[in-house]
Amino acid sequence: MNRFENQVAIVTGGAQGIGLGIARRLGSEGARVVLFDIKAERLRQAVGELEGADISTHAVPVDVTDETPVNAAVAEVREKFGRIDVLVTAAGVAGLTNRKTHEVDVGDFRHVMEINVTGMFLCCRAVLPVMLQANYGRIVNIASISGKEGNAGMLAYSTSKAAVIGLTKVMGKEYAETGITVNALAPAVVRTQMVDELPPEQVKYMTDRIPMKRTGEIEEIAALAAYTASPEAGFTTAFTFDATGGRATY
Ligand SMILES: NC(=O)c1ccc[n+]([C@@H]2O[C@H](COP(=O)([O-])OP(=O)(O)OC[C@H]3O[C@@H](n4cnc5c(N)ncnc54)[C@H](O)[C@@H]3O)[C@@H](O)[C@H]2O)c1
Repeated sequence: MNRFENQVAIVTGGAQGIGLGIARRLGSEGARVVLFDIKAERLRQAVGELEGADISTHAVPVDVTDETPVNAAVAEVREKFGRIDVLVTAAGVAGLTNRKTHEVDVGDFRHVMEINVTGMFLCCRAVLPVMLQANYGRIVNIASISGKEGNAGMLAYSTSKAAVIGLTKVMGKEYAETGITVNALAPAVVRTQMVDELPPEQVKYMTDRIPMKRTGEIEEIAALAAYTASPEAGFTTAFTFDATGGRATY
């Protein structure tokens, strides 16, 4: 399949983990990929890895929570490539977990909301004028099962991911007649650095709830993201796709 031939795809959080896996998949199907991430060194390694797989890759070190640099990064992509067909927003943090609401630190709560929600909003807002001009676009926001179900011990993260589902519903409806679709993915546990850094008790809580009795693979999330980001997914917008091994049946 070459569903992204001639297309340009921005992937935030593209330096590692799920974002990098999605970038690899889109690139393997013909997209020129642009990685946005705060980790400059990891970005360099990711570019090397993708270029080694013959994927045309460009990287922009940027903090998704900084409005002016986000706008400048998107303007740079538009200038360089002349188009932006796909935005995947995978930049995110878990914050402090394995604690109840009365133990939650407000600074950490704000930090998680700022990256997972405000950062996502800023990136979406920056690409929308480009997509509107082209009458085409695919935005795929990475939410989480925690946004649907609410994972105990993860107040900030679960709240932020519920907000991601909410902003996806709004944007999907607002642009439904424009050729732009906006959808979210809600994965359960996938073994990445984010999960490796969580307390083991928190990881056990999350994995115990997966009926398939295994964690997801980055490639499985990337396959679903690629479908959602492709021209094939033309009649679905404002929706949150499941990838939870049976945990969510809605
Ligand atoms: N791993 C899982 O189990 C899982 C499950 C559901 C959803 N998710 C979501 O998938 C996305 C990717 O997570 P992952 O597991 O690959 O984690 P990860 O930590 O491996 O990757 C996250 C990436 O986001 C980047 N990032 C963080 N803050 C940033 C900022 N302010 N500006 C720019 N980049 C920033 C990091 O540098 C990193 O490269 C996240 O949104 C996460 O919440 C992960």
